[in-house]
Amino acid sequence: MTLQAPRLAVLASGTGTLLEAIIEAGLEVTVVVSDRECRALQVATRAGLRTKLLQRSFGADFDRDGYSVLLADLLARRGVDVVAMAGFGTVLSRPLFDSYAGRVLNTHPSLLPAFKGWHAVRDALQAGVAVTGATVHVATELVDEGPILAQEEVPVLAGDSEASLHERIKQVERRLYPRSIRVFLERLGDSDLHPRETPVQTIENPRSQGATR
Ligand code: GRF
Repeated sequence: MTLQAPRLAVLASGTGTLLEAIIEAGLEVTVVVSDRECRALQVATRAGLRTKLLQRSFGADFDRDGYSVLLADLLARRGVDVVAMAGFGTVLSRPLFDSYAGRVLNTHPSLLPAFKGWHAVRDALQAGVAVTGATVHVATELVDEGPILAQEEVPVLAGDSEASLHERIKQVERRLYPRSIRVFLERLGDSDLHPRETPVQTIENPRSQGATR
């Protein structure tokens, strides 16, 4: 019996350079979902990919669980097996992670567990670390937590701004993330198990956390 290759969705809200790297690496993307109008959607459209804009009022009355259910349903309808977050701006909650347990991937611009959250690059600069980096991990409903698949260090240079440091980290992410996604998909594809039952394996050895300058 020929097993179908696992289907990948990308969630992105920003400039979409990671999405571009995923596409350029030759990974097949079933659908790109965004929570706002953004360059990432344009990148997807230009590449001929199916897109979905799932935009809501993200104010105080935002129904995070409802949004996560909608998203999980949408992905299931498209037959998606693995979800890669690539700069997605909305924190997702349990319904999504229950539906895709162990199959939501994320990349974060720090050496997790250091500097979780939206301002990871700024926080690393402010903390004065000599080395920060990028982390690819399996995402859970706890933001920036979950088994680490790959990490790579990026030195902080004298005179770095948040933008210059983030760009150098993203250069690493554009290489590390597509590679990690590919290995993850291949392991799912090779497995006789249902993706949901496939144990998470570390893909690359995490490096140690950066020392303080
Ligand atoms: C990356 O640094 C990613 O780690 C973070 O958002 C950034 C996305 O970059 N979560 P881009 O929008 O793909 O250029």
